[in-house]
Amino acid sequence: MSESVFHKLAESAELEEGKGRPFELEGHRIALVRHEGTVYALDDLCPHADASIAFGPVENGCIACPWHFAEFRLETGEVLSGPAVRDIRTYLVEEKDGEVGICLEKNAAGELRKSAPEEETFS
Ligand code: FES
Repeated sequence: MSESVFHKLAESAELEEGKGRPFELEGHRIALVRHEGTVYALDDLCPHADASIAFGPVENGCIACPWHFAEFRLETGEVLSGPAVRDIRTYLVEEKDGEVGICLEKNAAGELRKSAPEEETFS
């Protein structure tokens, strides 16, 4: 059985429109991205070769990896173009009272759920 836990990650004012920013939470690299007023949270780890996607360009509901320009949908983490072939995990975001938090899940042992563990085949 898993349990959802919200963790404060940033002040709202730290997140500029149209840009991402990297954070770390309990060993997870998390990118927070503000796009058209909404904050999105994704693993800050491109599944192609581990680049930080937080520094990629943001456009039309997507963020592109700054290294080889794989594109991901901000809302779902779905990969839209290669060379990455795997989606990025996304997190629920709560923004209120000037603070931004994300929801991580704990497993029955009280450990935070890790990012997608599958092996990646580089192309
Ligand atoms: S590291 Fe992201 S596309 Fe290559």
